[in-house]
Amino acid sequence: MTISTPTVLTGDCRTLMPAFGPFDLILADPPYGDTSLAWDRRLTGWLPLACQALRPTGSMWLFGSLRAFMTIAAELREAGFRYAQEIVWEKQNGSSFHADRFKRVHELVAQFYRADAAWSVVYNAVQTTPDATARTVRRKRRPTHTGHIEAGYYLSQDGGPRLMRSVIFARNAHNRAIHPTEKPSALLEILIRTSCPEGGLVADWFAGSGAAGEACRLTGRRYLGCEIDADMAEKARARIAAVLPFDGRAAL
Ligand SMILES: C[S@@+](CC[C@H](N)C(=O)[O-])C[C@H]1O[C@@H](n2cnc3c(N)ncnc32)[C@H](O)[C@@H]1O
Repeated sequence: MTISTPTVLTGDCRTLMPAFGPFDLILADPPYGDTSLAWDRRLTGWLPLACQALRPTGSMWLFGSLRAFMTIAAELREAGFRYAQEIVWEKQNGSSFHADRFKRVHELVAQFYRADAAWSVVYNAVQTTPDATARTVRRKRRPTHTGHIEAGYYLSQDGGPRLMRSVIFARNAHNRAIHPTEKPSALLEILIRTSCPEGGLVADWFAGSGAAGEACRLTGRRYLGCEIDADMAEKARARIAAVLPFDGRAAL
């Protein structure tokens, strides 16, 4: 079935989502059983289904803590996923785990792709920020841990594009959130622009508030979310419907 308008399914992603693939991008913010929230029970069995539902050029951005990733590392591998990279989402506040001795103000988001695909074919639109300072960088010699590098130097200009940093600050929704672990749609927008082509299909397996649906609407990507809690799914639908759709002309 083709998804042309943003859609939030109600039910278990393991049953509902596979039929709608292949997906260009999977966003996953699953329950890990880390909190006392009623829905927060670690879910098994969804990773192989998610991997099989990805296009070979697709990838999955998975939210979690290092603790959570270590717990499911074998499951990720057995499901057919290969680790690519991670970013740190820095937020203004957050809740800590019992072992923390620092105020926890970050979460990790790790990207995985199909182990049967080459990383070079995975869709990747490098994101930049317009804050470069003028300089010429010369490579004196090739770093030992990398392969062949074409250019010996590059020039940058003041205010020009600079590769986006892997630590990204985004305020969490806090007072206006409709879900207790809602992710900022500004952060999701960055992941979506990086890893899904315009018009591509994003699958949000644990949709919660539908924040990713909002981000898809703003960036011109198609969206399919799934949420097991019927009330939350209804709120997510209303939230997404209230967002003005992407208008390609605005970007001209
Ligand atoms: C961490 S929250 C996601 C929050 C979401 N990313 C947001 O920004 O609002 C996880 C969500 O997964 C939902 N959930 C739990 N088990 C599920 C399942 N089997 N299928 C679909 N959704 C599920 C929970 O009800 C919860 O709303």
